[in-house]
Amino acid sequence: DKANYRHFMAKEIHEQPEVVGHTLARYVDMASERVSLPVKLPFDFKDIQRVTITACGTASYAGYVAKYWFERMARLPVEVDVASEFRYRESPLRKGDLAIFISQSGETADTLAALRYAKAEGAHTLAVVNVPTSTIARESETVLQTLAGPEIGVASTKAFTCQLMVLASLAVAAGKARGELSEEDETKLVHGLVEVPRLMADALTTELQIEKLAHRIAKSRDVLYLGRGTSFPLALEGALKLKEISYIHAEGYAAGELKHGPIALIDETMPVVVIAPHDRVFEKTVSNMQEVAARGGNIILMTDAKGAAEATVDSLVTIVMPDMASAFTPMVYAVPVQLLAYHTAVVMGTDVDQPRNLAKSVTVE
Ligand code: F6R
Repeated sequence: DKANYRHFMAKEIHEQPEVVGHTLARYVDMASERVSLPVKLPFDFKDIQRVTITACGTASYAGYVAKYWFERMARLPVEVDVASEFRYRESPLRKGDLAIFISQSGETADTLAALRYAKAEGAHTLAVVNVPTSTIARESETVLQTLAGPEIGVASTKAFTCQLMVLASLAVAAGKARGELSEEDETKLVHGLVEVPRLMADALTTELQIEKLAHRIAKSRDVLYLGRGTSFPLALEGALKLKEISYIHAEGYAAGELKHGPIALIDETMPVVVIAPHDRVFEKTVSNMQEVAARGGNIILMTDAKGAAEATVDSLVTIVMPDMASAFTPMVYAVPVQLLAYHTAVVMGTDVDQPRNLAKSVTVE
């Protein structure tokens, strides 16, 4: 039931502080401030030399974010692939490699086929799934459940942020096991994770501003999303969300790639959404933003108070996000990204929960 919301998608966006909080409580021991996985892993992260992450669509973008986390916190090389490519490429896996599969439904045909392939190759298989009775959950060696609850809207929202919470916890556990993170590092990171649900609730307060902005976005033919670091996969997710529910063409790019092609598209008619928390790569993103502004591009900047003060461009709109430890920004910045797609679709009058040509669970390849 939609409670008091107009669409399931709106309800599911608003539920995120709660369900991400439930997921956090399953993976982190608040009392000891340690990550504590609900299952014992059948391998030691110290022995793992390579990780592959395979998924489709939004779940694959959660995988891309996780790549940054695993590589930084655990110094563990990660390859991310969409399942439809991974399964037919016959990618060489070594016995004992770790293959992670991410799926809300646990029934996506390509992801399931990739899982079966990895199993046959002798890899350890670990699934991050929302439906614990699903085929992918049943067939994986290890299951880490997301506690998003049933997701009805076709566009994935709360499943995505819960996937990120599980993957963030797993990356911290990996960093700890591999000796790349000290106890002190872990405590700090756990503090950062514990803050996330409250920060997501703060992020929801941008909704009125975003609703207004949606009227302008709805008049555009194309929208460009830019981000660096973990904000890059979020730019991909923002573009996917917008196109699938509002039918407005959108593209996500790594901000540094702008001058290698897409900058040719910039004019005053194409809004550019820049996702730029004040993190290690913030200044680099600002210089890309200046390139956009210099060509008459209209910028929608999602950043925190510090970023807003330092960004020296005239942006069309700045969406000021809460201050936070930078490692886990994607979970919090997902909120305005989802809201922007949602409200634009509402303005366009599309069928938000059941967009044309799409199914919730893609059980054919
Ligand atoms: C986009 C979306 C899809 C799914 C993809 C994978 O909003 O919902 O891209 O993320 O079809 O589905 P699952 O996670 O069920 O494997």
